[in-house]
Amino acid sequence: MKELIIINGPNLNLLGKREPKIYGSLSFTEFLGTVKDKYPNVSIDHFQSNIEGEIIDKLHDVGFTYDGIILNAAAYTHTSIGIGDAVQAIETPVVEVHISNTFDREEFRHESFISAHAKGVILGFGLQSYELAIQSFL
Ligand code: DQA
Repeated sequence: MKELIIINGPNLNLLGKREPKIYGSLSFTEFLGTVKDKYPNVSIDHFQSNIEGEIIDKLHDVGFTYDGIILNAAAYTHTSIGIGDAVQAIETPVVEVHISNTFDREEFRHESFISAHAKGVILGFGLQSYELAIQSFL
């Protein structure tokens, strides 16, 4: 069975409540439940943290054993050389995901310290971006 993990960064614990016009009105727990039902033959773990170092530690933990990492580093995408370096350091391929189309938003969201080290980037499809990332590993 393929072992994947979704790692979500800061403020994504508020999905469903946070700016629903941009991020939708479904909580991540609800969304994850439907995705897990849809892909019963894939193990899909989930980790969320608002703390940069915890995201780096989790990338180190899973980055040499899992088959795939789906990473939405949220605002850290645009600021964190540390998370970018961690993605470069590990062996497990990382797909960078964003719910919104970051290129259709403020200019500071156009930069990513992760993309150059990612296997690919999926953005702008709402929560479906995560599902497309899962499919990319199957
Ligand atoms: C986000 C886009 C980021 O710019 C923002 O800081 C987020 C969420 C997205 O999924 O669209 O928190 O990563």
